[in-house]
Amino acid sequence: MPRIAWIGLGSIGEAISTNLAQYAPLAEPVLVWNRTAEKAERVAAATDRMEAARSLADAVSRADIVCLCLADDAAVSGVVDVVGEVDVSGKLFVDLSTVHPDTNQAQADRLQSLGAAYIACPIFGGVAMAIERQITLVLAGPSDAIAKFEPFTKDIICKDTIKLADQPLREAGMLKLVGNFVRFSAIEVLCEATVLSEKIGLPKETLARFVEAMTPGPSAGQLAMLHSGAYSDLTTSIAPISMALKENGYLNDLAQQSGARLRTLDTVTAHAERVNEMRGPDAKLLAIYGSIREENGLPFDRK
Ligand SMILES: NC(=O)c1ccc[n+]([C@@H]2O[C@H](COP(=O)([O-])OP(=O)(O)OC[C@H]3O[C@@H](n4cnc5c(N)ncnc54)[C@H](OP(=O)(O)O)[C@@H]3O)[C@@H](O)[C@H]2O)c1
Repeated sequence: MPRIAWIGLGSIGEAISTNLAQYAPLAEPVLVWNRTAEKAERVAAATDRMEAARSLADAVSRADIVCLCLADDAAVSGVVDVVGEVDVSGKLFVDLSTVHPDTNQAQADRLQSLGAAYIACPIFGGVAMAIERQITLVLAGPSDAIAKFEPFTKDIICKDTIKLADQPLREAGMLKLVGNFVRFSAIEVLCEATVLSEKIGLPKETLARFVEAMTPGPSAGQLAMLHSGAYSDLTTSIAPISMALKENGYLNDLAQQSGARLRTLDTVTAHAERVNEMRGPDAKLLAIYGSIREENGLPFDRK
């Protein structure tokens, strides 16, 4: 039974690693490390199925599979710099962070040159879904490396996987970004439709009946948060606007590299930037509704 280390206990990292520790058939506790050490100590103190590592090098050197769930490219790159000082030959790195597809490839090349294997494993779904093990994970990389991590995925930390075995590694990040673009755009349209309904006098209950009947997935819950004003609430588990801006930046880069022109992406980005200016990076993604309200002569907050 391989030993697993988990690096990065942010909002979603804590949720997924806690499920891994609780539901995976592991012989030894999951080793956890976080830049802010108190978080790792707090999370590990709650269960005997997790152990706080003394350092990043300690976590990596004692593990066979090392999962990374970090904020962005710089964080992943910084962690892999330190990891490179440890003997990593024969170890498997699983990167669940959302990073630019070029970063996935660069880290895979670095770790492979040190004798380790790497799979990209971006996450579809947010924190609430992660807690309920309802997320979907993309698994991309060499099939033998995927086979080592796969037993710890379905019904343990996720609902399903999308396997991209032996396909170009970049496809994992491209799928994550394109998939999220579909989700962000759906939120943009839902917010605009909600503003329009208010302006033309379509009752909110009537719009909600349409959304519940005709749009499967998270739209009904999101609409309820727009109607109740919860989109302004910083304490919900909705992804922060900083994450949307990071991903839109990667998408813009891919669009520019390929010569694609994406008007909806420009619109979503403009609204996200406005939210960031007004409410800061911890404001939630659904707060783009407030910025669309403002553009239409309504107050940002809905009471
Ligand atoms: N939250 C979601 O809904 C969601 C959904 C899908 C994918 N994702 C992706 O999953 C990843 C983690 O998301 P999250 O929500 O857990 O983010 P988060 O709450 O912001 O946590 C970020 C994690 O990265 C660590 N970190 C940041 N900079 C670092 C550095 N320079 N060196 C080492 N560690 C560093 C943080 O450590 P500290 O605790 O010390 O700050 C923390 O553990 C991100 O790439 C995100 O895009 C998130």
